[in-house]
Amino acid sequence: MPETASVLFVCLGNICRSPLAEAALRHEAEAAGLDIEVDSAGTGSWHIGKGPDPRSCDEARRHGIDISAYRARQVTARDFARFDHIVALDASNLANLRRIAPAGHEARLSLLLDHVPGLEGQDVDDPYYGGPEGFETTWAQVSVAARNLVAELAPKRG
Ligand code: 4NP
Repeated sequence: MPETASVLFVCLGNICRSPLAEAALRHEAEAAGLDIEVDSAGTGSWHIGKGPDPRSCDEARRHGIDISAYRARQVTARDFARFDHIVALDASNLANLRRIAPAGHEARLSLLLDHVPGLEGQDVDDPYYGGPEGFETTWAQVSVAARNLVAELAPKRG
C-alpha cells in the first residue's frame, strides 16, 4: 500500500485563502478517489479558533462545498513533521515558513501557484481587503492547483 500523502496549505490568517485551498483539494481528491490528508493553517495568530471569512464560505458554497465548520489555527513546528507537503499561498508566507522550519525537516515547501504551469513563483493575492470578486479569483487559482496536486500526488500506476 502506498503511503497516504499529506498536504498543509498556509496563508496569513487561515480564514480566506488556505481554507479554500483545503476545500478544493479535499474535493478534487475525493472526485479522483485519492486518499489524502489535507489541512490548512495561518502564519498569523489573529483568527485562531474562528471560522472562515463569510466571503470564503459563500464562494465554497457556490461550488457545493460547506467549509463553515473549518476553524483557523496557527502553523506550528510540528506541522513540518506531520505533513509531506506544505504549500504557501504567497511568497511572504513561504518566507515565514522557512524562518520557523525546524532544522532537518523533510516537508517539501512550495508556493501554491508553483503547481500551475505558467504561474510558477506567483502569489495568490490576499482577497481580505477587497470585494467578493477577489474570492472568485482565489477559488479559480486554488481549484486549478488542487487538480494538478491530485495528479502529482496520485500513486503512479504501471
Ligand atoms: P488569509 O487572509 O491570509 O487569506 O486568511 C487574511 C485574513 C485576515 C488578515 C489578513 C489576511 N488579517 O490581517 O486579519
